[in-house]
Amino acid sequence: MLTEYIDSAERAAEIIRAGGLVAFPTETVFGIGVDATNGDAVAKLFEAKGRPSNNPLILHLDDGGHWARAAAELPTVAEAFLDAFSPGPLTLVLPKLSSIGDQVTAGLPTVGVRIPDHPIARAILRNAAVPVAAPSANRSGRPSGTTWQAVSEDLDGRIDAIFTAESATIGIESTVVDCSGGNPVVLRPGAITLEQLQQVAPHTREYGDSEKQRMVAFGEKINSPGILHPHYQPKAQVCVVEVPPVGISVEVSAVSAFCGTERFDGLHEFALSKIFGSLDDYASGFYEFLREVDRQAFERVFIQTASEEGIGRALRDRQRRAAGD
Ligand code: TXA
Ligand code: MG
Repeated sequence: MLTEYIDSAERAAEIIRAGGLVAFPTETVFGIGVDATNGDAVAKLFEAKGRPSNNPLILHLDDGGHWARAAAELPTVAEAFLDAFSPGPLTLVLPKLSSIGDQVTAGLPTVGVRIPDHPIARAILRNAAVPVAAPSANRSGRPSGTTWQAVSEDLDGRIDAIFTAESATIGIESTVVDCSGGNPVVLRPGAITLEQLQQVAPHTREYGDSEKQRMVAFGEKINSPGILHPHYQPKAQVCVVEVPPVGISVEVSAVSAFCGTERFDGLHEFALSKIFGSLDDYASGFYEFLREVDRQAFERVFIQTASEEGIGRALRDRQRRAAGD
């Protein structure tokens, strides 16, 4: 397949409406959009990403008022989250509309719905006028694409078009919160923090590691299968550290990279190192750094643990998973 490089939202929407796959920017990461109501297009998307069929997709809409195109109902708490945080880096898991296919939701009775806060994404969604399923634009398991060049590395020749826009700004995927029954549960941390959600709905809680382990141990049907698959992993070995090893041998330093927010003595020993000016910059540039490590074929990358505040919680989650934890 010859991938078209485009910069028009109308063209992107036209390709999506015709059943094609288009990578486009959002404020979190780039997504690969397809018409969620077109079963063949959805099947092509799983194929292009190499995505396990039991990992459900998020439906993207240009306006919160259009939720009924994807969901059967909008629970009160979900409505409150929509009012407070949409458009923005938040995905609501809601009871699904019966016309949304099992392929999209991996057979779950729920559907993820998100209204991205990005002018290009919203223009594409407005023009497409269908719910657009859009997973992150990367081959399954790899770090998410936050630049169109990264998307091109993974998906050129595998999708119909790539929108050549500026980098995604937040750099970490949306917060996923299950609002389909009982108290809301954060399934994936993101830029909208647990504390922010609790200001709107005080009983919101995090999906605990112990719950995940129990689900795996007993083979129960987990309610967010994406949690279990390998994710965000470069080819290089990832080591999450508080402080980088210093005084490492020349042989080791020659094949190692480091990134973080704090400057340490001895960083010059690493063949590649990057100190981000803030936690937000760290989140924004994190996946691209992992990709650069692979481009330069480093064997090992040391990444400094993000502090807990703000986006740090979400970044820590991605760091752990990049390390294969
Ligand atoms: O920021 C984002 O959310 C990006 C941009 C492109 O919008 N998209 C994204 O999609 O990260 P993806 O497919 O890489 O991740 C979707 C996550 C997975 O963890 C999946 O398991 C979860 O959302 N998810 C989707 N539908 C779900 C559902 N019905 N129930 C529970 N989890 C769901
Ligand atoms: Mg993804």
